Amino acid sequence: MIELEVQKASSEEVYEILTTLVVPRPIAWVSSISEEGVFNLAPFSFFNLVCDDPPILIISISNRDDGSLKDTVRNILNTKEFIVNIPSEDLIHELLMSSEDFPPHVNEFEITGLDWELGRMVKVPRVKRAKAWLECILFKHEELFDYHLIFGRVLFIGAFSLDYSELRPIGRVKGGFCKVFKE
Ligand SMILES: Cc1cc2nc3c(=O)[nH]c(=O)nc-3n(C[C@H](O)[C@H](O)[C@H](O)COP(=O)(O)O)c2cc1C
Repeated sequence: MIELEVQKASSEEVYEILTTLVVPRPIAWVSSISEEGVFNLAPFSFFNLVCDDPPILIISISNRDDGSLKDTVRNILNTKEFIVNIPSEDLIHELLMSSEDFPPHVNEFEITGLDWELGRMVKVPRVKRAKAWLECILFKHEELFDYHLIFGRVLFIGAFSLDYSELRPIGRVKGGFCKVFKE
């Protein structure tokens, strides 16, 4: 039995419990490009749809421990464009590699060996192997405590299939992943 008064608990404990209970979370595997032209790729599971007409999604991205911006935030604030790649079971290894805290000059497409293709409506690379992707422009940016709320307006949707047996999407469950299926 857990009964937790949040303000008396450590942030680690609250994180652990919340990410155990709020499941599964969809994963935005976000590709973006820096002002200098360096490609970037990283996953975020504090992510969801906010509305569908017009289609707006939200991603919550924390600052690094030293207070600096993560590359994804800096890139999106600079270029106002990004792509949410929808990850599938076969891409978990690459997705985890891309989540490492690399410095800004590192291109995670090179690190992971993933091929890319430019978006149709935004000048950002997408993961070619991802079975679906959402091309977005920055609609709104809000700062909340040590987090950046990125609201993206979806301009273009690409999907090789809408059948889950082909898409094989994954969700975030605590520190791991789950498969998504439809009965
Ligand atoms: C599955 C998964 C989900 C993640 N979700 C988030 C998230 O919602 N917000 C966040 O700030 N970091 C999240 N991270 C950590 C980022 O991916 C990590 O900080 C990454 O290095 C950021 O890269 P960037 O500096 O290139 O933007 C997640 C990591 C994994 C593996």
